[in-house]
Amino acid sequence: MSQHIQISIAKRVQFIRINRPDRKNALDLAMYKALSDAIHRADSNRNIRVSVITGFADAFCSGNDIEDFLKGPPMDASSPIVQFIEALIGTETPIVAAVNGHAIGIGSTMLLHCDLVYAADGARFHMPFVNIGLCPEAGSSFLLPLLMGHRQAAEMFYLGKTLNAVEAARLGLVNAVYPASQLESEAMEAAEGIAAQPPEAVRTTKRLLRDAFAEALSAASRREMDRFVPLLNGPEAKEALSAFMEKRAPDFSRF
Ligand code: COA
Repeated sequence: MSQHIQISIAKRVQFIRINRPDRKNALDLAMYKALSDAIHRADSNRNIRVSVITGFADAFCSGNDIEDFLKGPPMDASSPIVQFIEALIGTETPIVAAVNGHAIGIGSTMLLHCDLVYAADGARFHMPFVNIGLCPEAGSSFLLPLLMGHRQAAEMFYLGKTLNAVEAARLGLVNAVYPASQLESEAMEAAEGIAAQPPEAVRTTKRLLRDAFAEALSAASRREMDRFVPLLNGPEAKEALSAFMEKRAPDFSRF
């Protein structure tokens, strides 16, 4: 369990809130585990037909906890990070995301696995893997270009380009943009719409949407992890992550 992942279940909707505002909702290992548990719960509990995931305050999720990354977390099959990615890829229950603010790193790449994504007008989408000496994860090297095309994905990955909510909607990452005050109710309305549908038809449709490219997606995710781990343990990431914690600009000139 994690005190930073709050779950409630009502009207066949599982509502998941990432709530760690002092770290801009960065995910530590216990939070990944709680999120995986929530995804598995949705698949095994017939009273849950859909999940909604959102953040708190000005962040949806600022990615992996950078302090944790510096400690070199486990990244094998037993890793909560890897298990979260696998849960996202394998789930049979639709997920609706309500992106209330910053969506960074895995805060953005998890959206590629969500079925409906709504954003507040102030939301920002950023995948700064290269910026911090890493490479894409969670199947995003496959899913992002598939969604928006190679050129747009290349700007996000190589340059760490941040998208605002309207740009994210134009590029297909987001279904619709709402004023922040309406975001949760709009996401809940969509979720309740899914929850009211015949459940086996919904689950079958989710499986069909996923199975069309499941093999390629899983292969991409494995490929990414094979490369992510040495980068995470390498000098470029160490410099970038230390720089973030020390609140200074990174210096890659010696590499
Ligand atoms: N991991 C750990 N701590 C984080 C964090 C993360 N991913 N993101 C933010 N924090 C912490 C900051 O270190 C800061 O801590 P402090 O109060 O002890 O100084 C606190 O959260 C507030 O963040 P701050 O950067 O001061 O807020 P901001 O409003 O200026 O910027 C963000 C918000 C989210 C844009 C910025 O914090 C950011 O870029 N975070 C890192 C994102 C990232 O690179 N994630 C990894 C992707 S793989």
